[in-house]
Amino acid sequence: MKKLMAANWKMYKTADEARQTADALVKAVGTLPGDREVLIFPPFTALHAAHDALGQAAGFHMGGQDVYPAEEGAFTGEIAPGMLKAAGCGWVLTGHSERRHVLGETDALVGSKTAFSLAAGLSVCLCIGEKLDEREAGALTTVIHRQLETGLADVPADVDPGRLAIAYEPVWAIGTGKVAGPAEILEAHAIVRAKLCAMFPSAGTDMPILYGGSVKPDNAAEIVGLDNVDGVLVGGASLQADSFSRIVLA
Ligand code: PGA
Repeated sequence: MKKLMAANWKMYKTADEARQTADALVKAVGTLPGDREVLIFPPFTALHAAHDALGQAAGFHMGGQDVYPAEEGAFTGEIAPGMLKAAGCGWVLTGHSERRHVLGETDALVGSKTAFSLAAGLSVCLCIGEKLDEREAGALTTVIHRQLETGLADVPADVDPGRLAIAYEPVWAIGTGKVAGPAEILEAHAIVRAKLCAMFPSAGTDMPILYGGSVKPDNAAEIVGLDNVDGVLVGGASLQADSFSRIVLA
């Protein structure tokens, strides 16, 4: 399986800034190694600019940071899968921890976004992960199981595993500089893999599982080398082309 190296730009970068960063990133990475793919999630207003800058660069893909589960309609402020596709997105993030814990999205809404986007032809990266109090209460497995069961409830059993990635991002490690250690990542990713295989007997082994949470150029190589780690989802360290290119090539 190719390693999926994903950049979540969150609410950073105007269209011009996104164009410059994407352009610099393509140049800094050069020819992408055959075992890597790059996925950028710019803010909505920068999608066109980032798409232009990525151009035809082989192995570079783009996605939206969020989506609403309807084709169109009276949903002020929301964005439809078809709009993302028309702006050059092949992917979308669902259930990012900031959407769950800052904007109040429920597991059920995340599940309907995931299934609707897949049916609409987007590939989906579903984000899951426990909060610190849940980990301290010994609820790691329970939380992962619940988020996968509800997040993937309406995904067909014969889903193409290349179109559905899971990003395991422990909430306490996002933007805090606290990276989960190798043992913690191995444990959580094994729980995710076992659950995916139970839910999707034919596709579960081939769904990429990304790690996210304070990934940096100096820890990326070790993290992507771990069992059941098929890539990374990077926030802060993806905002500069220089630092993200070193992660992509780690
Ligand atoms: P971080 O963010 O790399 O800044 O911790 C990761 C994420 O939120 O996806």
